Amino acid sequence: PTGIGVLTSGGDAQGMNAALRAVVRTALSRGVPVYAIYEGYRGMVEGGNRIRPLSWDDVGGIMHRGGTIIGTARSRTFRTREGRLQAAANLIEHGINRLVVIGGDGSLTGADTFRREWSSLLAELVETGKLSRETAARYPFLALVGLVGSIDNDFYGTDMTIGADSALHRITAAIDALVSTAASHQRTFVVEVMGRHCGYLALMGAVAGGADYVLIPENPPEPGWEDRMCALLRAGRAAGRRESIVVVAEGARDREGNPITSDYVRRVLEERLEEDARVTILGHVQRGGTPSAFDRWMSTLVGYAAVEELLSATPDSEPQLIGMRYNRITRQPLMHCVEQTQQVSAAIAAGDYQRAMELRGGSFTE
Ligand code: F6P
Repeated sequence: PTGIGVLTSGGDAQGMNAALRAVVRTALSRGVPVYAIYEGYRGMVEGGNRIRPLSWDDVGGIMHRGGTIIGTARSRTFRTREGRLQAAANLIEHGINRLVVIGGDGSLTGADTFRREWSSLLAELVETGKLSRETAARYPFLALVGLVGSIDNDFYGTDMTIGADSALHRITAAIDALVSTAASHQRTFVVEVMGRHCGYLALMGAVAGGADYVLIPENPPEPGWEDRMCALLRAGRAAGRRESIVVVAEGARDREGNPITSDYVRRVLEERLEEDARVTILGHVQRGGTPSAFDRWMSTLVGYAAVEELLSATPDSEPQLIGMRYNRITRQPLMHCVEQTQQVSAAIAAGDYQRAMELRGGSFTE
C-alpha cells in the first residue's frame, strides 16, 4: 500500500502527540507504512531526512508530552507552486499519497490547495523528467484528512480543537493562583489570555475561574462598559469580596473595533477604583505543558478516525475534517469547515457579531 504522511503545522497544541501516536499505530496495525514529516510543510518541501518512517515504538511515551515531537514551522516556500512541486516529488520519493494534516485553518487550506494541484504537479514532474510516467500512475490522487490543532477552539465543524481543553486548564490554574495573592492584598488582577480572534478561552476561563468581568472579541461591550465594570467590582468589594479578576482576551475590541488591551483595563481600574491593579499576561504558558486527559483521549480518537478515513478514500472523495460534535467523533467536508471558520473571523473583523454567532451555530445575547 502507499504510505501515509503525518505532519503538524501552525502553532503547537497539547494533544498533537496523542493524535500522532494514534495515526501511527492505527496505520501500522492496518499494515500501512506511515511517515512523519518533520517541521510541517517546511519539512515536506525540504524532503531528505525530514520525512522518516515511524515505528510503533517511535511514538511510545509521547502521549503525556506537550507540543509536537515532530516539530512545526511556517513555510513560505510551500505557498508557492515551486515549493509544492518539490513537496510532491518528496512525498512520492517516500511512496506517500495520503496525508494527515494537524493544524489550523491556514495549514488546512494549504493542504487542500496541494491536493487539488496534485495531478498537475505530477504532470509537471513527468514533463520535466523528474518522475517517470509509471511512478506517477501509481499515485493518481492525494488523499487528505484534517485534524484541528489549535488552543483557540476557533474552528467550525468541531466542538473542541486539539489543545483547547489543556490551555483552559492552564488558565484556570493560573486564575486560582492569582486569586490567593489578589485576596491577600485586596487587589484586582487583569488576566490576558490567548485566542487570537476567538473568545472561547477567555470566556470559559472566566467562568471556570469565577472571574468578575470578561472581555472577548465576539461581544464588544457597549460604550460606558468601563463604568459598569467598575461598579460591579466596587459592589463586590462592598459585599466583602477581597479579590477581583478581569479576564481579557488578546483579541478583545470595543464597538469601534479598537483593541481593548489589558493595560488599558488596568489603568481604568486603578484610576476609577483607586486601588492596586496588576496585569498578568499568560502568553505561551497556555500552549505548553502536559495535555489534559480530554486532549489525550479526544486526539487519540480523531487520530484513529483520520486513518480510517484515509484508507477508505477514493479519487472522488472530498477531504474530510475529523472532529467532535455532541461528544461523538464526526467527519465533515474539510473545505466547508475552513470556509465557515474564515467567514466567522471576517464577520468579527467587520463588527458583525450576530452573523459570527449564527455561523458558529450559537446564539448571541448581550
Ligand atoms: O493560534 C494559537 C495562538 O496561540 C493564538 O492564541 C495566539 O494569538 C497565537 O497563536 C500566537 O502565535 P505565536 O506563537 O506565533 O506567537
